[in-house]
Amino acid sequence: MKFIQALHGEPVWPPPVWLMRQAGRYLPEYRAVRAQAGDFISLCLNPALATEVTLQPIRKFGFDAAILFSDILILPMALGQGLRFAEGEGPRLPPLQDISALQLKRAPGVYAPVLETVRRVRAQLPPETALIGFAGGPATVACYMLDGEGGGSFPRTRSLAYENPAFVEAVLDMLTEATITYLDGQVQAGANCVMLFESWAGIFPAHQFRKFVTAPNRRISDALKAKYPGLKIIGFPRLAGLNLGEYARESGVDAIGLDTVTDIRAAHAVCPENTVFQGNLDPLLLKLGGKPMEDAVHEILSAVRGRPHIFNLGHGITPDVPEANVARLMEVIRTS
Ligand code: CP3
Repeated sequence: MKFIQALHGEPVWPPPVWLMRQAGRYLPEYRAVRAQAGDFISLCLNPALATEVTLQPIRKFGFDAAILFSDILILPMALGQGLRFAEGEGPRLPPLQDISALQLKRAPGVYAPVLETVRRVRAQLPPETALIGFAGGPATVACYMLDGEGGGSFPRTRSLAYENPAFVEAVLDMLTEATITYLDGQVQAGANCVMLFESWAGIFPAHQFRKFVTAPNRRISDALKAKYPGLKIIGFPRLAGLNLGEYARESGVDAIGLDTVTDIRAAHAVCPENTVFQGNLDPLLLKLGGKPMEDAVHEILSAVRGRPHIFNLGHGITPDVPEANVARLMEVIRTS
């Protein structure tokens, strides 16, 4: 698998490609299955339908990796926190008041269908296509659990981090344990590597970033690698800024997903020599297509020539992306 070779630090050319949120609403065949499932959570917990939507973008565009179709918020739901997706508004959870509301032992029974999806997808994927398992990073999942919604400001989480850090740390501890068990289950079920989405890492000042983002990511990496020595882990500490170098050195991950704002050459300069990067085309350019997109793709390719790299977006694909632009992106990369 070219994708796994790149994660092992081998320069593969052209670089392997997948796109964050590659299964999703920009695909008419996704919208059809989503309508059949009823709601988004039912789709995530239906192995037959979740397998189908995981495979759709692989069939259509031939990406080098598939990502399990699920969501980072399935884990807090499995731990006992309410979750709903309000149409057009994003996720809503009852803001967590007390850690005793969460039950570690209950979770595996609830997310069992997700592990079944991993088994089915791995059995149906072409052998050269990697399967990425994933979870939210504990800090990012805690943001949703404590504030009850996304949006990026997370006022309650940020206040609690100063006023009641022991509570935040207790939540993170529990999530870290639950995440290790969850990802272990995904690897056992057939995932070829795993990714930690720390999409809101960038809301924390440096001293909290170290404690809430880097340290729990390290615990997860250490625990998984102790059991699976060859396993590769991708971290996505979005908007890490100048915390990126320390994250690369201390988090234990092998590869780092770069957000849209980060210059790849600058990231290479502050991270250890063997760090593999993934990224980081602006998703807006995938919507716009044409010369602005192609120029940006060539710029990324020239920044990573001769190095192991995984081509991706700097954040998830949006529902308004024309499929023809995705096809063109693949053509530009594969003929470079
Ligand atoms: O194709 C894939 O990338 C695999 C599946 C996947 C989804 N969400 C499906 C999804 C993955 C890896 C995620 C991760 C995820 N979920 C993150 C981290 C990455 C990021 O985007 O920063 C976050 C923060 C979430 C939480 C979440 N899930 C939000 C905020 C939303 C609403 C926003 C939106 O686009 O509607 C979701 C819903 C969601 N997750 C959809 C999909 C395909 C859209 C649901 C639908 O069909 O209506």
